Amino acid sequence: MTETTFAPRIFSGIKPSGGLTLGNYLGAIKRWAGMQGGEWDTTIYCVVDLHAITVWQDPEDLRNGTREVAAGLLASGIDPAQSVLFNQSQVHEHVELAWIFNCVARLGWMNRMTQFKEKAGKNAEKQSLGLYAYPSLMAADILLYHATHVPVGEDQKQHVELTRDIAARFNHDYGTDFFPITEPVIDGPATRVMNLRDGTKKMSKSGESDMERINMTDDADTISRKFKKARTDPAPLPDAFEELEGRAEATNLVDIYAALADITPEEVVAEYAGAGWGQFKPALADLAVEKLSPIAGEMRRLMDDPAEIDRLLAHGAEQARALAAPVLARTYEVVGLVRG
Ligand code: TYM
Repeated sequence: MTETTFAPRIFSGIKPSGGLTLGNYLGAIKRWAGMQGGEWDTTIYCVVDLHAITVWQDPEDLRNGTREVAAGLLASGIDPAQSVLFNQSQVHEHVELAWIFNCVARLGWMNRMTQFKEKAGKNAEKQSLGLYAYPSLMAADILLYHATHVPVGEDQKQHVELTRDIAARFNHDYGTDFFPITEPVIDGPATRVMNLRDGTKKMSKSGESDMERINMTDDADTISRKFKKARTDPAPLPDAFEELEGRAEATNLVDIYAALADITPEEVVAEYAGAGWGQFKPALADLAVEKLSPIAGEMRRLMDDPAEIDRLLAHGAEQARALAAPVLARTYEVVGLVRG
């Protein structure tokens, strides 16, 4: 069997449930924007609405959320002239490939998924079958485009590893090398942005208090207030980055600063060595407002014309389908499904 080579291609996705956080922006969206027009054959970014409904969504909120996330991606610099941008449900091939992968993935693999266990908690019996099968749909999202690289935050690493297992198992079971073994791309200082009130927990859309996260639509005053009230320890910033060891909240604020300013955490510490929080937090708040306010403004502008967002998503879906359809057709053929 000859080794297939795959063009370097990016795919990544984001759920349109509950709005965008600074974690989504720094861990994913900002990095996605920076990957456009580089060494990649194609960059494909998807608002994964079918993933969102694994937990019940109010239909009107889902519609608005999909447009808002699309607006957030556009406002952050995802350019439909350079990238394929669409919402998942407009390309039915995702679901069809996911079914094939449901027949490839093993129950034992799914049972190891920590995100399902965390989300389901003690109530696993009451969760939807979709939530359990979610990682198999995610593998389909990626492999439908033969994506070789997937830029994500740290929390998605296990799902990309499962994608690799599914591709390898499919290739093995059908004696082919049709699917690439995809690499996760988890780099930069902010691959795990933490909760502003508790540095041991991830910043997420669903946390209890709004004070623990920065939303991409927060106004300048809210951003400043949240950073100023962020939990820290009493010690000032150290002289060297390594000395932040064991100071989760302090490390998180330094990492956020670094990611927003496009510098390394070491450079942040060098610049603010010995500074107290009374100095660092306002500087961080100002930087965040400077970087995030224009994005929020542009999101508002785009949201005033939802029909234009829908038009862009439909156009992206057409481009996505052109890439996806031949891959699904070939998969059906490999599996032995008769087509007329
Ligand atoms: P989602 O919608 O939860 O998050 C979207 C992206 O944002 C990243 N992220 C973070 N990064 C750093 N710190 C945080 N606190 C933080 N919170 C979120 C996530 O890692 C992710 O990259 N299952 C995926 C969506 C998905 C997908 C895919 C991703 C569906 N199909 C195919 C890649 C490829 C999810 O729920 O992401």
